[in-house]
Parts: sequence; structure tokens; C-alpha cells
Amino acid sequence: MIKWQDTLSVGIEMIDEEHKELFKRVNDVFDACMRQQGQEKVYEIIGFLKQYTVKHFGDEERLLEKYKYPELPIHKKLHEKFVDDIKEIEKDIKENGVNVSIITTLNRKLVDWLINHISKADKRYGEYIKAHSAD
Ligand SMILES: [Fe+2]
Repeated sequence: MIKWQDTLSVGIEMIDEEHKELFKRVNDVFDACMRQQGQEKVYEIIGFLKQYTVKHFGDEERLLEKYKYPELPIHKKLHEKFVDDIKEIEKDIKENGVNVSIITTLNRKLVDWLINHISKADKRYGEYIKAHSAD
């Protein structure tokens, strides 16, 4: 499971709220796996996570574009990697069902990635936007 902490705030309310929603959707996937809700259900819930992730990254990228964030191209690449990882998990579930290694995969590919991304890359643009929105 993934847990929101105030230290993950990037200083932009809209983004923080979207990150919280993203965490909720990641936890929905854990939940579905642990309750053994079955392959189809887990597949569906991963689909919801993917949809929201794409929406959120889109919102984030539009904001960074608005502020002409110089690291936007690199940031976009990071986002692409995460979406690819979700798609891979999705594919794996479709082909192999929900197995014991899924929780480890979710922790490594979703939880660790998100915490790391938000606390490093997202906080960096948070600082940048803060510095550039005063003028
Ligand atoms: Fe990001």
C-alpha cells in the first residue's frame, strides 16, 4: 500500500490533490489483489489507475508548459516510463492472472516509483513554479 504524507507536498494544491487521488487508485489495485477479486476485476481496476495516471500526467505537463519549465522534456520521459510500466503490469495480469509476485511488482514499480518521482522530480518543478509565479 502507498500512504500520503505531507512531506510529499509539491506546494501546488491541485497537484497534491491529484497525487492523493493517484495513491487512492494504486491502493485500489492492492485491495483488489489482496481480496482476491479475480483477474477480470483486477484488470479493470488497473485500467482505472492507468486512465487517471494519463489524465494526471497530462495536467502536470500542461502546467509545466505554462511555466516554460526547462526540464519538461525529461519529465515527460519519466512519465512515459511509468505509463509503460502500468501497461506491462496490465498485460501480465491479462495473460497470467493475479499471482503471488504481483504485490512485489506493485510495490517496486508503482509505489517506489511514485514516492521517488514525487519527492524528487515533482518537488523540483514545485520549487521552480514557486520561484516563477511571484513575478
Ligand atoms: Fe511528475
